[in-house]
Amino acid sequence: MNVLRFLGNELKKWAIGIVAAAAVFGLCTWLMTLAPEPVNQQETAAAAPVTKRTAKVVETGTGVTVMSAEDWASKYPEIYASYKANSENAEIHDYVEQYPMISTVYEGMAFSKFYGSARGHTYTVDDVTATGRPHKLANCFSCKTPNFTAMVNELGDAAYQLNFEDVLTQVNEPISCYNCHANTGDELVVTHTYLADALGDDLQKVDPATLACAQCHVEYYFDPETKATSLPYHDLASMHPDAILKFYNEELLVDGQPFADYTNPRTGVRQIKAQHSEFETYMGAGSVHASMFTCADCHMGKATAENGTTYSSHTWTSPLENQALLDDSCSKCHTDLAGQVKAIQEKTEARTNEIGYLLQDLTEKLAAAVESGDYTEEELNPIRAVARDAQFYWDFVFVENSEGAHNSKLDSECLDKAEALTNQALGMFK
Ligand code: HEC
Ligand code: HEC
Ligand code: HEC
Ligand code: HEC
Repeated sequence: MNVLRFLGNELKKWAIGIVAAAAVFGLCTWLMTLAPEPVNQQETAAAAPVTKRTAKVVETGTGVTVMSAEDWASKYPEIYASYKANSENAEIHDYVEQYPMISTVYEGMAFSKFYGSARGHTYTVDDVTATGRPHKLANCFSCKTPNFTAMVNELGDAAYQLNFEDVLTQVNEPISCYNCHANTGDELVVTHTYLADALGDDLQKVDPATLACAQCHVEYYFDPETKATSLPYHDLASMHPDAILKFYNEELLVDGQPFADYTNPRTGVRQIKAQHSEFETYMGAGSVHASMFTCADCHMGKATAENGTTYSSHTWTSPLENQALLDDSCSKCHTDLAGQVKAIQEKTEARTNEIGYLLQDLTEKLAAAVESGDYTEEELNPIRAVARDAQFYWDFVFVENSEGAHNSKLDSECLDKAEALTNQALGMFK
């Protein structure tokens, strides 16, 4: 291609882009001042930076000993107390009972039998050891305790292959200060280096108070060879569910086959198990607030100490439970946020259930087709491939803990895809 003409075209595209962006920005600002009820004008791909704060990444191989939460108690008494208060978020319910279809759609992996809802950060070690899901390797400690995070920072990938029980003897606390601050006490430091690896140059485009949470509230896989906790993308753009699926289907091959977290024993579908995709969802295309608020803005509101100074509450809760946050910030644009969130969540929940049952139906039909002996492998494989993709899109929403509140647009697009693919697969039987 003619390079000059190419450059000319690129410049033209940029110019059009800039004019269009300016127009949209102008329109947005104008609408915001005009409209009492907010209107969603945002159509970003991955979000722009919230602030210009620099993200710091932990130094590895320095032989540090993790400082525990208690070590900071006298220096930061209010923060320490608010951290301990996470234990009040103790409720746990059984997803297998609440969503009966998962015993079929997750068949072949332990989540089909033992799947408890999330609760406070101070319960992570209790919950990972109490679950009926068997653990062989220590890699499941990646998001549970700073003791393991520090071990990875010391030993590198070799730590992921250590035996679970051996590492457990060296764990003395659940998620704590080191996970988000290293041993600095107050600076935000990315200590889970797989996040920095996955975002590459885009790391500096994300505010540190969002990165802190993205260390764990992300979709991940264990590398088939090293068993290292890894994220299925290499920058913000490839964090989109379409790109993640493409990565699992086309790039991450194991013996020439697409990567699978488990294989359903009756259907032979090589399945992907999505996990808590909060970061990808909140930062993804369609998110209303990604360029405005960090995770901490909504989940760690400001609190006032007895001496009148303010600090960030370290009780990680729903923004709807933080009246001061609602009054001081959200109410500027929202008149009934609780009602709005409830409506979004009810709609997401209803559709997730409906499509979950459709997937269950597909699983049973496929199992029956396999069992019947009437289908050749050549006939079954295309149905399996569509079923795999359908379940991934469904799971990406099902396992996201906000139930639509972080990005209802992206969630409903994923559910549309899940539904269409499930129906497509159902139409492929003879
Ligand atoms: C080191 C890993 C890790 C980091 C970092 C982390 N989380 Fe979590 N978070 C978890 C795990 C694991 C759970 C589930 C705990 C359980 O059920 O045992 C959880 C649970 C939660 C819950 C409670 C969910 C519920 O249903 O009650 C909220 C809210 C939450 N996290 C928000 C955040 C925010 C906001 C950040 C960033 C400031 C953050 N988390 C950083 C691992 C992490
Ligand atoms: C604009 C505000 C906002 C931002 C920013 C935000 N969230 Fe949320 N988040 C919510 C709302 C609203 C809910 C639903 C709360 C409810 O059900 O009561 C929620 C729910 C959650 C939950 C489930 C909590 C529970 O108690 O079940 C987790 C975990 C979570 N968010 C993590 C994150 C992470 C990680 C980020 C950043 C990547 C983030 N959130 C950014 C508003 C926000
Ligand atoms: C899951 C991540 C996470 C953990 C665990 C955590 N913090 Fe923080 N902390 C944050 C975030 C995020 C902020 C800042 C919010 C911002 O600047 O937007 C913060 C801010 C702070 C600050 C700065 C002052 C302030 O109030 O904002 C101090 C001091 C602090 N944390 C101490 C601690 C101590 C002590 C512990 C352990 C008891 C701890 N943190 C555990 C995420 C975490
Ligand atoms: C500057 C105005 C503004 C502020 C301040 C604001 N919001 Fe929003 N919010 C919007 C707009 C615009 C939308 C999209 C239109 C709608 O659904 O109302 C929205 C939508 C949402 C949604 C639904 C998102 C979705 O994908 O459907 C949630 C949840 C939300 N806001 C939470 C919050 C919380 C929590 C706060 C306070 C921390 C807050 N907002 C503060 C303007 C604002």
